[in-house]
Amino acid sequence: MVYLDSAATSFPKAPGVTEAVCEHVATVAGSAGRGAHTFAVAADKLLWDLRRELASLLGTREITRWAMMLNATDAINTALKGFLRPGDHVLASALEHNAVARPLRHLEDNLGVGVTKLPYVPGLGASPTDICKLVQPNTRLVVLVHASNVTGEILPIRELAIAAHDFDVPVLIDATQSAGALPLQIDAWGLDMVAITGHKALLGPQGTGALYVRPGLDLTPLRQGGTGSWSELDRHPDEWPDKMESGTMNGPGLAGLLAALQWLRERTIKDIRRHEVEVMDHLLHSLADIPGVAIYGTRTAADRAGLVSINVAEMDPADVAAALEDQGILTRAGLHCAPWAHEAQATLRRGTLRLSVGPFTTRDDIDAMTAALAPLGRTATLLGH
Ligand SMILES: Cc1ncc(COP(=O)(O)O)c(C=O)c1O
Repeated sequence: MVYLDSAATSFPKAPGVTEAVCEHVATVAGSAGRGAHTFAVAADKLLWDLRRELASLLGTREITRWAMMLNATDAINTALKGFLRPGDHVLASALEHNAVARPLRHLEDNLGVGVTKLPYVPGLGASPTDICKLVQPNTRLVVLVHASNVTGEILPIRELAIAAHDFDVPVLIDATQSAGALPLQIDAWGLDMVAITGHKALLGPQGTGALYVRPGLDLTPLRQGGTGSWSELDRHPDEWPDKMESGTMNGPGLAGLLAALQWLRERTIKDIRRHEVEVMDHLLHSLADIPGVAIYGTRTAADRAGLVSINVAEMDPADVAAALEDQGILTRAGLHCAPWAHEAQATLRRGTLRLSVGPFTTRDDIDAMTAALAPLGRTATLLGH
């Protein structure tokens, strides 16, 4: 099997993840913050170790401001619904995933929050100048995907954050496709809120994620409930991270995520990025040689995340994906949960075939995919479909 769908979820996971999940299930008989016996303490320590690893990998001084979430969607919903108030206005990039677009639409429909999409700028995704042009007196947040899951474009989030901060507006970054794969320095880049998922480039299990919120920015939690702290009170605590983490955490999943982060620390994101750029460079050059293949976005691997959307002549991408799967190659076809991004690429009707790589993808994987795709491209071009 050749797995070229890492942007959906990473496979395989980092070495040590499976063992850590199993070990937690088999040996940790406790819930974080609930009780003082050995296992409860171990479960609690796991969460603090995780926050420490995240803070160090993604460049934050403050470890208490990392709250564990179910995934990036949960983190983004928590940030948007916990921060925005009726009458607020939001600027969002035109490449946002439905994890951002749908909660924003919901807030627009139900809370009277105004939403303006920033114009799409090919190659950049969004431009700081447009933030300056479109900001309104009631703009309270700018939401930016770090790397698009459709086009692979990497937004200049540092420069975009500076433009937003010029108007005292904080930024929420959707780092789902970038955390673990691209350099990301939250404090140094002045980012206010960052949502991540554990199961993509961070190479951990599904059902894990986190939200970082800088000190000084307040959020109302989505949920209230047991936190294992201040248990004499029936009013929800206001302290981080407890206030954002009600209910028993996903201990086994988070144990797996911790193992993945430790592996990433050893391997280094810099090294992973170097590898992915090399593999993507080979992929982009190979695709360019196949007749009938249209590549969306830049052909420079260093300017994109580890994914590319393509189409083959007039073929339905689902048919291309099925033909590739017949040869043992797994890809993703259709609309990638990001209608705004497809609109920007004029692919909302047909969708695209997405090929995405990870730290374990090899040149041989790319060659196997190319060998299977080339005859399809040639035939489709000859037949004119
Ligand atoms: C850019 C982007 N944001 C958010 C998400 C949602 O991630 P999750 O399904 O882990 O919540 C995805 C998933 O594909 C994504 O690609």
